[in-house]
Amino acid sequence: MNTQPPPPPPPSFGSQQMRAEFMLDPKYLALNHGSFGATPSKVFADRIAQMRMIETNPDHLVKVTFDGLLDKALVPVSCLLGLEGDLGSLVFTNNATTGLNAVLRSLKQILRSTGRYPKPTALKAQKILYFSTVYDKLLFAINYTCQNDGFLLFKSTLNIPFPLRTCFRSYDAITSLPAVITPSKNLQSFSESRNPDLLDAAHAIGQIPFDLSEIKPDFCVTIYTSGSTVGTNDISAFLTTHSALAFRAWIGGESAIQTYCHTLLLAAPKSLYASMATIAVPETPFVTPLLMSKVSVFLTREQNCSVYPFKHGGRYWVRVSAQVYLNEGDFEKLAELLYRVFYGELAVE
Ligand SMILES: Cc1ncc(COP(=O)(O)O)c(C=O)c1O
Repeated sequence: MNTQPPPPPPPSFGSQQMRAEFMLDPKYLALNHGSFGATPSKVFADRIAQMRMIETNPDHLVKVTFDGLLDKALVPVSCLLGLEGDLGSLVFTNNATTGLNAVLRSLKQILRSTGRYPKPTALKAQKILYFSTVYDKLLFAINYTCQNDGFLLFKSTLNIPFPLRTCFRSYDAITSLPAVITPSKNLQSFSESRNPDLLDAAHAIGQIPFDLSEIKPDFCVTIYTSGSTVGTNDISAFLTTHSALAFRAWIGGESAIQTYCHTLLLAAPKSLYASMATIAVPETPFVTPLLMSKVSVFLTREQNCSVYPFKHGGRYWVRVSAQVYLNEGDFEKLAELLYRVFYGELAVE
């Protein structure tokens, strides 16, 4: 018999109650979800519980339950991605950049193992295709691969057709800057020889319907941010340095701890883990490179507001992210704020 009480009705989108489900400062105009996400308190509580579970017996976790727990955690992700429990093609990576690098660093082996590695004489003809809207860290990885493995670069704007004579294609589901949805299904199928491709779907989950069983890229990376932690790398351990060092001081200090451990060891026996939009910045006399270089930090520090300003195609833009904890009033506040910044009413220091 199920003794669990039914869950309470959910708060409506954009309501104060919805906002209260998150841990965000109530006065913070949080319009940069696309960069770092935000964790609901309930999910955070679960994360703390998982962390506690790990700490109860790390050996048991690493040696016994690790793979099973990760597989279990991958099941709902596989369903979200249209893979219905097919775990064979799914792994967690620390973040999307790690996944992108893993694929590119293995490109030579991938081409070899699928019989598509070019003969040495034809090597220079082999190009890696990327688009002008590429995520910068992916471009770093592509450049590295070209320099190390002898491939050439082929940069394209999102114009089709692009050249068929490429050995590897990379493309986005939603480009980061500017935030636009690409026709990834069409891009993916546009190749004569069906050479491998890498779909950077970092922003796709939660923003657009995303079905890998339909798109079928060879490789894909995506980020499931809002359900895990702020950002995609778990930095919570780094942020505990103050409390950790205070604890060490409380129990006796560094020297006493080291002496004790050393002594103990000597005495021991010998056997001994598309909801973003891009808005154009008006070209007013106040919008200078200097102002644009400072505006992001200024807004965060002085106005408790976060957005993502950037330059693309020779002009300035601001990327804003919508989320269930935001409402129209938040965007009106942003519009007013940006107006004051770009029309010189606020001094950006
Ligand atoms: C298109 C795209 N790809 C990859 C990444 C990298 O994500 P991560 O920080 O998880 O490595 C980002 C980050 O914003 C992104 O926008």
